[in-house]
Amino acid sequence: MISKRILTVLAAAAIVATVPGALYLVNRSGDDPSEGVSTYAQVTPTAAREQFSRGITVTKANKTFDAVRLFWKPVSCNGYRIYVYDTSSRSWDKIATVKSSSADQYRISGLDPATEYKFKVFAYQSSDEKDSPSDKGRTFSVSTKPTAPKLLSLSADNKSATIKWSKVEGATGYRIYRYDFKTGKYISIVSIKNNRTFTWTDKTVSSGVAYKYKVKSYVKVDGVNNWSNYSNMLCTAVKPDKITITGANRTYDAVRLFWEPVTCNGYQIYMYDSGSKKWKHLTTVKNPSANQYRISGLKRGTEYKFKIRAYKCDAQRKNHFGSFGSTFTVTTKPEIVTKNGITYVEGILIANKTYSLPSNYNPGMNSEAMQAFEKMQKAARRDGISLWICSGFRSYSYQKSLYNRYVARDGQAAADRFSARAGHSEHQTGLAMDINNASSSFEGTAAAKWLAANCADYGFIIRYPKGKESITGYKYEPWHIRYLGVKTAQAVEKSGLCLEEYLKITSEYQ
Ligand code: DAL
Ligand code: ZN
Repeated sequence: MISKRILTVLAAAAIVATVPGALYLVNRSGDDPSEGVSTYAQVTPTAAREQFSRGITVTKANKTFDAVRLFWKPVSCNGYRIYVYDTSSRSWDKIATVKSSSADQYRISGLDPATEYKFKVFAYQSSDEKDSPSDKGRTFSVSTKPTAPKLLSLSADNKSATIKWSKVEGATGYRIYRYDFKTGKYISIVSIKNNRTFTWTDKTVSSGVAYKYKVKSYVKVDGVNNWSNYSNMLCTAVKPDKITITGANRTYDAVRLFWEPVTCNGYQIYMYDSGSKKWKHLTTVKNPSANQYRISGLKRGTEYKFKIRAYKCDAQRKNHFGSFGSTFTVTTKPEIVTKNGITYVEGILIANKTYSLPSNYNPGMNSEAMQAFEKMQKAARRDGISLWICSGFRSYSYQKSLYNRYVARDGQAAADRFSARAGHSEHQTGLAMDINNASSSFEGTAAAKWLAANCADYGFIIRYPKGKESITGYKYEPWHIRYLGVKTAQAVEKSGLCLEEYLKITSEYQ
């Protein structure tokens, strides 16, 4: 009678951790506590209650195609036991014991993709406690993701990009994602709603632009899509448009090529090498908006061939090249032209130690040069400077006697440093003149200074400048000016070069 009453008391007092056979002091239920009567009771072995762990709630799960990570809120306990439901044997199998009360997660790997799994988690106080996995209320269901497809290839021409991926068994379909460089996100661009299509061509691309792609697979279960992770990424660039050279400016040693810019990162310039008969990469212009490029150091009057292509760099620093437009042929200016025994370089009549004039060339003073001189003379006069021509046109025969006189006086070597041999004097062109006083006493005079400072503005150059004897073939002659026309004279003066350097010609007796 009394023992029955005590068992009731035990249950009511919710003493769970009783040890069979032990003695406990309890208040008897129904007694008036004010009586203060206590009773010792012994728990009989047959009456011992089994101890159970607590089934706890899984709050969420992270999932991949082959693993699930379960999360829960830690409780006061000694550890956790994890069960998975085995659908073939229809039983709950313990798969792990986590011997840590503070654990709040557990990862189960080696699972099948796109498969539903059921889990239960129990918190235990002692290793003697039993779990009751049949407890329905604590089941947590989660489906693994489908396997992500693998991107196999990505190719592009100048209009489209074609992507290929691997088949995922059991997939309902696929979705293609393209990277948006503006937002930094992958954006779904197409859904493939079958498992027979493993390639797709993106025609919504622009030439000369870089792209990145990823793919996902999905499995539809009960109307809900279960998505895989992203596949690997593949990148490319759609080829830039073809570059056609639209024109060229040319000088005697340089060519400037022009083209229409396209969307790209830059341009590669190629020049044909007639020696090796091969196209050679000259340079890369790393500026997408460039529309011209100057190639210098070329040979005079020589034909050159060029072609250009644009390039675009993809996300992995690989260049994608557009096509070359047709070959552009250009000849540098100009050949050294000889007409009636007279040499013209870039249209400029030349008489020096290399290039001579025929003995019967007798043009007299050039009228344009004379007019230019008179204009200059007036301007000088306004500045208080008197300029006059002390020697202008000289015929072949006059130059011959002049030169011979100097040779007789000073010897040929000395004479050759200041006097031209017959047919080699610039005075025979009618374009040269000696100003005021053809002697070293002219150097440093106000007239010499004015002449040097102003003659280019009237179309003249100081033809034999100081320090250029090894190139012109003559000592410094501050008085000897040569008419070239204002544009050329100013260009030569600005270059700081003597006329031979400017035209890349020599002045040496053969
Ligand atoms: N004095 C110049 C070089 C000439 O004789 O033509
Ligand atoms: Zn002279």
